[in-house]
Amino acid sequence: MAEAFEILVTGGAGFIGSHLVIALAESGYRPVVFDDFSNSSPSVIGRLERILERQVAVETGDVRDPAALRRVFARHQFGAVAHLAGRKAVAESVSDPLLYYGVNFGGTVSLCEVMAEFGVRRLLFSSSATVYGAASVMPITEDAPLRPANPYGRSKLMVEQLLADLASAARAGPRPWRIAALRYFNPVGAHESGLIGEEPAGEPDNLVPYLAQVAIGRRPALKVFGNRYVTRDGTGVRDYIHVADLVEGHVAALRQLLAGTAGEYRAWNLGSGLGASVLEVVAAFERATGCQIPLQVVAERPGDVAECWADPRRAERELGWRARRSLDDMMTDVWRWQQRQRDEERRCDE
Ligand code: UD1
Repeated sequence: MAEAFEILVTGGAGFIGSHLVIALAESGYRPVVFDDFSNSSPSVIGRLERILERQVAVETGDVRDPAALRRVFARHQFGAVAHLAGRKAVAESVSDPLLYYGVNFGGTVSLCEVMAEFGVRRLLFSSSATVYGAASVMPITEDAPLRPANPYGRSKLMVEQLLADLASAARAGPRPWRIAALRYFNPVGAHESGLIGEEPAGEPDNLVPYLAQVAIGRRPALKVFGNRYVTRDGTGVRDYIHVADLVEGHVAALRQLLAGTAGEYRAWNLGSGLGASVLEVVAAFERATGCQIPLQVVAERPGDVAECWADPRRAERELGWRARRSLDDMMTDVWRWQQRQRDEERRCDE
């Protein structure tokens, strides 16, 4: 029975990985978390188990370590792999490119080698809209030029190229690969239970986690990175997508991979198709929470583009998937998660 497949989720304790584990389990698959907990907390597993009311299989290891991967593949019968483990901070990728090429690219090479050894050739890859770089035409389709502007983005593009080559080499042979590259726009939000969400270590790089920390009183004001872009209100426009919608897109892509027999590599944008400015995100957050957010306009962040949003129609056409949750839903769920975290921290202080 296809639905009972075990699915390896690398990075399964991370923000998107943990939500994917929930979506997979709720769709009848058996997710197995593989994580080195370098950027996530082992306490996520207990919270996943509370939500799912069952045990979650966990394997600790680094995707760059083929021996660790082999041990895991020997213990399970995977129907497919969702490869989400990777580094994702742009500034860090500029100062430490070896880390990014090593983990993101090298980690994928070792994972694919072990997959081939064990005859597992169905792969979902966590890519990013960052592969488009500064696109000149909005909305962005999958056929837009790929010209990432930093080592993080280039490491994602290199993986996409590797995977396309892998699928193409095996297409005509007896052992075809089927691979989906999922290009995420701006995933935000949290699980509706408030138990799982994004937990950035230190000062958040991204808008929504920063906003939530201002609301909770941990940071004095939201720094708006520039208000003189050529956009409707001068602030940067992005395509925010609720993490619950995003992971449903993975499940839709996985169903396709598992159903097909012919070898193929395909990229899909996972975005809402709607652009929202920084000020619109702030307004949605204020509406959802009743909090007033102090703002401080500062200089533009180097490397930022004015606007970036998806044309998600390929995913709708081919996967039967589209994002359904609104910006207000995203903000409500982020706020529930942030408040719950604060309450837990307080309990720990007492
Ligand atoms: C960023 C990365 C992108 C990565 C993604 C991961 C950069 C340049 N881009 O996307 O490669 O895939 O995170 O989630 O780092 N903003 C503020 N104040 C803040 C933070 C952000 O005004 O404190 C603005 C930004 O200028 C931008 C928008 O909010 O207009 C969204 O920023 P962010 O959440 O960092 O996402 P991206 O820059 O789109």
